[in-house]
Amino acid sequence: MARSSKFESLLAKIPDKHFDRLEDRLPGSKKSSWRFRRSRAMFNRYMREKLGGFMVDVDLGPKGSEEIIMKTAVLVKEEAKWSLDENNYFEQGFRQLFTWFKLLEPFGFNPRTVGSVFELGCGSARLIRHLRCMRGVRLAASDLVPEQVEWCRTNVPGVEFFVNKLKPPLSFAEDNTFDLAFAASVFTHIPLETQQKWIHEMYRILRPGGFLVCDVLGHYHQGRMLDAEDMKKLERDGNFTLTAKDAKASLSTQLIGSWDVFMKRSEFLRVFRKEFEVLDYLPTLLNLFLLRKPTSAK
Ligand SMILES: C[S@@+](CC[C@H](N)C(=O)[O-])C[C@H]1O[C@@H](n2cnc3c(N)ncnc32)[C@H](O)[C@@H]1O
Repeated sequence: MARSSKFESLLAKIPDKHFDRLEDRLPGSKKSSWRFRRSRAMFNRYMREKLGGFMVDVDLGPKGSEEIIMKTAVLVKEEAKWSLDENNYFEQGFRQLFTWFKLLEPFGFNPRTVGSVFELGCGSARLIRHLRCMRGVRLAASDLVPEQVEWCRTNVPGVEFFVNKLKPPLSFAEDNTFDLAFAASVFTHIPLETQQKWIHEMYRILRPGGFLVCDVLGHYHQGRMLDAEDMKKLERDGNFTLTAKDAKASLSTQLIGSWDVFMKRSEFLRVFRKEFEVLDYLPTLLNLFLLRKPTSAK
């Protein structure tokens, strides 16, 4: 049967070259609720299989407040509607965690043997909140922005939340403590001169053999935010930074007063490989890296 004319006319309004933009998803599409249910089921099935009786049911809790989502998940104003949608907010969290865990599995990762997890730059706890289903696991998270941490403390029980400074150390974390750490879309906002310090701090707090998941801006963001001149500089230097004052910076960066840091894959590997083993790389909306602190580390 032919598609409805309503669908066709909505589709026609979206310029071809913008078809991949989040804000251009069809208005009122049922897809987001379907995707949410599918990703939640996928994540829960996986965790139940791994954790067995150690899996506990937890409420999702409220999605991040509008203010936090605007400051942590919005590239341009038009994208806000998509990011503020509850289905999208939760769907992404489940899907990201499921993807990470599946990709880490061949390297010996098993949620059942994880005793502690740390999230750097947790925003509204969009991700770590889902790990509360792991009974008996210590969950800790921190962010630079005190109001965000305060919101998390009020709305997401079961996780220890801390405020950290622009530069390490994480005063609450001892050496060789965590089995897994992640920083989703955080190294994308840490200025280059501070990055190495944070990499070392993540190394310090992970136990030998502990995993680190993080990401960098890739082609999607380069294509949308950088002009030809910027791209030339990125190619030449391996990195490129937009400051909050730059009109091309993401809305979130402008609101927080932070930075958008672009790195070529070779640059990322150069700085992270100083301390971590690189296990896998997955280009998605952001380019994902799976890393491990060497088991031989002291
Ligand atoms: C794009 S948001 C991502 C939030 C969250 N990780 C998520 O995926 O929903 C980036 C977050 O990193 C935080 N951030 C930026 N620089 C940081 C730093 N040096 N230390 C800790 N958090 C930082 C910001 O405050 C913000 O919450």
